Amino acid sequence: MVGLGVSGALYSASRSIGCPGLSRLIATPTPSLITPRPFSMAVQPPVRVQGQVVQGFGRGSKELGIPTANFSEEVIERLPTAMDTGIYYGWARIDQGDIYKMVMSVGWNPYYKNEKKSMETHIIHDFDEDFYGSWLRVIVSGYIRPEENYNCLDDLIHAIRNDIATAERELESPSQLLLKTDAFLTDPVDTNQS
Ligand SMILES: Cc1cc2nc3c(=O)[nH]c(=O)nc-3n(C[C@H](O)[C@H](O)[C@H](O)COP(=O)(O)O)c2cc1C
Repeated sequence: MVGLGVSGALYSASRSIGCPGLSRLIATPTPSLITPRPFSMAVQPPVRVQGQVVQGFGRGSKELGIPTANFSEEVIERLPTAMDTGIYYGWARIDQGDIYKMVMSVGWNPYYKNEKKSMETHIIHDFDEDFYGSWLRVIVSGYIRPEENYNCLDDLIHAIRNDIATAERELESPSQLLLKTDAFLTDPVDTNQS
């Protein structure tokens, strides 16, 4: 889900938001500088994915303050079967808009114990409106880490902030910048080619 103007102040009452001192100490530490590891050998990057933006659970904006755009189940089912779940980075374009850096989560969101696999893109840009129903094209070009469970929401948010910093840095390399000019992103939208 993508929405702006929604602060991170609305939280689910059933989950721990702030990390208690002890749980913070025993939580898996999130390194501030992550060295991305290569894709699963079975899937060679980049992976190009496109489809309509559908409604997620809506926690990205409300609980995390990190809005995400969700792909439909049909799009997720067409992913290469050997593609690892986890956190990726790459490039994204909404309709005929500008092309931006993105981070993406593929999997079951262990913190929320989702029962369905999701593919959620956080576009690294401030948007003024939601874009449900828009056409999203992404080039997935690097892997950051597996999905993790966390003791509290603060730790999940901290991990995603680190992912964003990692993506910002990695996408500045010449080979990654070249993908921003890929015809898959720069051509006009073709909604028959999902
Ligand atoms: C870059 C990134 C990293 C994420 N990492 C994790 C993770 O390690 N564990 C997890 O349970 N969820 C992770 N998520 C998924 C969030 O929990 C998810 O975006 C949130 O549940 C909002 O989804 P919703 O808008 O469909 O409700 C990540 C999401 C993004 C964008």
